[in-house]
Amino acid sequence: MHNSNIFYGDVAMQLKNFLAENSYSQVFVLVDENTQQFCLPKLGNVNFQIIKIESGEKHKNLQTCEFVWKEFIHNKADRSSLLINLGGGVITDLGGFVASCYKRGIDFIHIPTTLLAMVDASIGGKTGIDFHFEKNMIGLFSEAKVIFIDPIFLETLDARQIKNGKAEMLKHGLIASKEHYQKCLQSFLPSLEEIQESIEIKLHIVASDPKEKGIRKTLNFGHTLGHALETCFLKNGKVILHGEAIVQGMIWAITLSSKLHYLEEQIATTLKQDLVAIYGKISISSTEINEILAHILNDKKNEKAKVQWVILEEIGKAKWNIVCKEEDVSTLLSTV
Ligand SMILES: NC(=O)c1ccc[n+]([C@@H]2O[C@H](COP(=O)([O-])OP(=O)(O)OC[C@H]3O[C@@H](n4cnc5c(N)ncnc54)[C@H](O)[C@@H]3O)[C@@H](O)[C@H]2O)c1
Ligand SMILES: [Zn+2]
Repeated sequence: MHNSNIFYGDVAMQLKNFLAENSYSQVFVLVDENTQQFCLPKLGNVNFQIIKIESGEKHKNLQTCEFVWKEFIHNKADRSSLLINLGGGVITDLGGFVASCYKRGIDFIHIPTTLLAMVDASIGGKTGIDFHFEKNMIGLFSEAKVIFIDPIFLETLDARQIKNGKAEMLKHGLIASKEHYQKCLQSFLPSLEEIQESIEIKLHIVASDPKEKGIRKTLNFGHTLGHALETCFLKNGKVILHGEAIVQGMIWAITLSSKLHYLEEQIATTLKQDLVAIYGKISISSTEINEILAHILNDKKNEKAKVQWVILEEIGKAKWNIVCKEEDVSTLLSTV
């Protein structure tokens, strides 16, 4: 993914130019009921074939893919068709996957409409769906032809969704740039420049390690425990957004970083205060703590490997492949 594949601002004009420069046989746009209502009108007057799916993570599955593939077939989509993914991370993940498999791959572009999709899900070429009760179980690395980033879509997102995406921006700052972290803390609604800066941090990391053998692992900061918390809450029917779960994961990872003497305790305390001031505290029962612990340890036992952590050495500097004792993790979780 080159920076030149990402265009910032005025989405309607950018899209018009892109379609004029490329001759696609048909243009499909994948939406859900919200992005159809709030985002589609912002794309201007384009001759689309609309494919609408239901919103929500529970629809990021194989049945929805089948539905989209059948829509392609009914509308005689050929190898020179284009799919525009207009939506949050569910749409960009599923749409990228569906397009990459249809007739061995048709072009797709992302127009992310949530902050999380702008700074994270649409960037880096990971596509996929949930399968067999596991998130992102089936999928592939596949790059969008272009990505259009326009903060105009943020106007219709509520504060919770903004904070959800902000969590990934704060993460980018914590692992790679103190300056970016501090800017993100200060503003509520990020500017286009801040969004661009966050994307560039992710792009830079992905470009140095596309297949996640080394430094790309730092993007998983807060995600080992955050993802386990997400899975545990989903199983128990409790609602938690991805960003909210990874903030808690980052709080744990920050504590671990200071416990293992990589990060100064004073800095760790300040960072945790910053995060709690924005996100509040999540209440997690002791049964859930045990479930979270079991989840991460079992995963690794199956792979006959040890859990590897991403920790902070300072604000803007992360280390990966850190192994620690099981007791350290259980103490960590019990001191929420
Ligand atoms: N591929 C990756 O690298 C990557 C990275 C991070 C997250 N993800 C995936 O992203 C998904 C989460 O993405 P998300 O948080 O964007 O969730 P989402 O796609 O479910 O969108 C959240 C909600 O906002 C609505 N919405 C979208 N744009 C809107 C707008 N402009 N105005 C009003 N409502 C709007 C949607 O309809 C939905 O109800 C997860 O499935 C996660 O696994 C992927
Ligand atoms: Zn994430």
